[in-house]
Amino acid sequence: MDGETRFVNWFRDAAPYIQAHRGRTFVIYFSGEAVADTNFSQTIHDFAVLNSLGIRLVLVHGMRPQIKQRLEAAGLESSYHKGIRVTDSASLQCVKEAAGTIRVEIEALLSMGLSNSPLTGIRTRVCTGNFITAKPLGVRDGIDFCHTGEIRRIDCQSIGEKLDHNNIIVVSPIGNSPTGEVFNLSAESLSVRIAVELVADKLIFLTEEAMPLGQPDKPIRQLTTIEAKGIFCRDHGFDEITQRHLELAVEACEAEVGRVHLINRASDGAIFEELFSRDGVGTLVSSTPFEVMRTATLQDLAGILDLITPLEKQGVLVKRGREVLETEIGRFTVIDRDGLIIGCAALYPFNTDQAGELGCIAIHDEYAGAARGTSLLEYVEKSARSLALNQMFVLTTQATHWFRERGFELAGIDSLPTEKQGLYNFSRNSKVLCKKV
Ligand SMILES: CC(C)(COP(=O)(O)OP(=O)(O)OC[C@H]1O[C@@H](n2cnc3c(N)ncnc32)[C@H](O)[C@@H]1OP(=O)(O)O)[C@@H](O)C(=O)NCCC(=O)NCCS
Repeated sequence: MDGETRFVNWFRDAAPYIQAHRGRTFVIYFSGEAVADTNFSQTIHDFAVLNSLGIRLVLVHGMRPQIKQRLEAAGLESSYHKGIRVTDSASLQCVKEAAGTIRVEIEALLSMGLSNSPLTGIRTRVCTGNFITAKPLGVRDGIDFCHTGEIRRIDCQSIGEKLDHNNIIVVSPIGNSPTGEVFNLSAESLSVRIAVELVADKLIFLTEEAMPLGQPDKPIRQLTTIEAKGIFCRDHGFDEITQRHLELAVEACEAEVGRVHLINRASDGAIFEELFSRDGVGTLVSSTPFEVMRTATLQDLAGILDLITPLEKQGVLVKRGREVLETEIGRFTVIDRDGLIIGCAALYPFNTDQAGELGCIAIHDEYAGAARGTSLLEYVEKSARSLALNQMFVLTTQATHWFRERGFELAGIDSLPTEKQGLYNFSRNSKVLCKKV
């Protein structure tokens, strides 16, 4: 595929996502390491592009290295207990300086209108504010955390109003108390809480860590919250931060945040690949499965046609018109991958013979070879059993071995239900295969 065709295909594939994300609220967390990176201006420009596409953005930044640097310069020690910084009065000064500097830097980058940047002609509004009310973490295990705090309230109304006016909201991990004190907060926890309270459509963790690996050493692309919890119970070998991000992702999803994405920020443009392509490059956590197998409805008609029409043209599948498909739609099972129909199969019962015909089984080219066809077949076999059928048969010209490897046996036309024998197309000369279910 040449570059031009690739671009056209990419643009067509991305279009539904551009449409779907418009007007949605995304909360994005990125670490202090991301801020310190020489590529940070690119990261910020990418956020501005998202904002220009109508996405409502709340940015929450970390600042650990920036605080550490200031503490070192002042000859002060970083003190942690159970991974949480103890912020004494001297450290608090470093926290305030780091937060102020980062905010100013982000505002400046979002205000750039350079002709050679992706922000050409885009006027980006930025808004910061006293959105976060905090309280002290207090004394734990005998340790006084001083100015380390926890979130008490988030002024979602104010954030919402600013988002309505197309502002990008920048939130530093500090909060104020009604007594006028300042508290240092965990940026990750803050991003979760903001996402939960805003009922955000997405929470995105731009991570420093490589994507979590599943078995056998392949990146985990999607996880339901139940699957994630199952993984936590096993010896999964994730690093501490990835484990924490996944736990926070589960927490956010269980509190009604639509989807949480972990995206490694090291790869340039990863956020676009994750948000504007079906398969992405990060790890998506959601409470409902990303891919489901279910009975088809009329809404799936166009998707099934897109999938089977090329196979009908090649003669692999028997041609069915749209009208036929419409009347038979309830017989179809589909695999729905985030709105794209990537697999289908139909079951036609012949009740008097207690037999069922498996028809029109197909898997989208890009998703073939990953056992989806086998799962679909098993699903249809289960449906056949629930209809009290005891045999399934299939007529195929090009997948004889695929069915034989899955327990079907070659059979004669006379083994078909009588009604089906009368419909057998001799010019197509399909093989007949049967299986007890
Ligand atoms: C047949 C089909 C449904 C299999 O879907 P799938 O999700 O790729 O299947 P699975 O992943 O469960 O199985 C993959 C295995 O089947 C093999 N396979 C795929 N198509 C095959 C075929 N037509 N004949 C024999 N083997 C086949 C693959 O090579 C792979 O084997 P391997 O792992 O040893 O390499 C899919 O290839 C398809 O849509 N084909 C076109 C439509 C078709 O022929 N339908 C049957 C008409 S009734």
